[in-house]
Amino acid sequence: MKNNQIGQIQERIAELKKEHDVCILAHSYQSREILEIADFSGDSYMLSKAAAAVSQKTVIMCGVRFMAETVKILSPEKRVILANPTAGCPMAEQFSAEYIAGIKAQLPDYSVVAYINTTAALKTVCDVCVTSSSAVDIVRCIDNDKILFLPDCNLGAYVQAQIPEKQFKLLEGGCPIHAAVTAEDVRAAKVLYPDAAVLVHPECTPEVVALADYVGSTSGIMEFALSSDKSEFIIGTEMSIAEHLQYSSGDSGKRFYSLSHKLLCPDMKVTTLPEVLGCVRGDAGYGEEIALDADTAAKARVCIDKMIAYGG
Ligand code: 13P
Ligand code: SF4
Repeated sequence: MKNNQIGQIQERIAELKKEHDVCILAHSYQSREILEIADFSGDSYMLSKAAAAVSQKTVIMCGVRFMAETVKILSPEKRVILANPTAGCPMAEQFSAEYIAGIKAQLPDYSVVAYINTTAALKTVCDVCVTSSSAVDIVRCIDNDKILFLPDCNLGAYVQAQIPEKQFKLLEGGCPIHAAVTAEDVRAAKVLYPDAAVLVHPECTPEVVALADYVGSTSGIMEFALSSDKSEFIIGTEMSIAEHLQYSSGDSGKRFYSLSHKLLCPDMKVTTLPEVLGCVRGDAGYGEEIALDADTAAKARVCIDKMIAYGG
């Protein structure tokens, strides 16, 4: 038996998971103690694919609401619980389906490409989903030169730069956390850590992306850093990743620095280990079961299925 309080809660969660036939998912931006009790950790799409393949009938998502919705869309027969119901994503919730339907009506010859970081409702009016790792490949494959990319104009600009032959319409949307980092922040970090490689997420602005040595999704950044010969890294995505990389790299001697204190996503931090315990035990007042009306779930699924068909 572990003798610290965190360890004891983790052990209780592990017992209850088996007893109640529950699978726990944790997005990579969650705390270390939550990642340690998760059956799967990673990006939102990887987690929803993993959830669809497990035998458990109940899935607890430690992450934000759109991620729990994506799990529910791909596994409608499962009970999907969002561990902390207040965990939203300002980017995913930025545009309503009605607003985008209006824009779409003005651009009838455009394919509407939605970052997976969108609500289920918004996906119902989009043609195809993408993740930050599949966006470039999927947009390249779409049989249309006119692309309306939403909601993130920074990820959209990054995709556009790789596919200059296509015509893009971008909206004023994005992740407020990644978008807050400035080119000046990168320069200041490079002064502090002159030998470090700069790895950034494409949700950062084009000015920040231009100063990076590597640009990629959260998983891409992690893989790159762990397999690189370099020994110091400035991490331009949610700050938990610098910490997780430091643990994962063990005694390799590698050092990971968060690019900016602005890279802290409050929505990813509201879920706590005691709340996960409350959810897995089925206590009243813990977690929220995701309910999507059948029409929304079916239409949103078409958008995700197209991504899967493109190999995304
Ligand atoms: P990825 O994990 O797909 O890189 O997404 C980043 C993000 O901001 C998730 O909220
Ligand atoms: Fe949303 Fe950005 Fe937080 Fe990810 S980091 S959950 S995109 S606000």
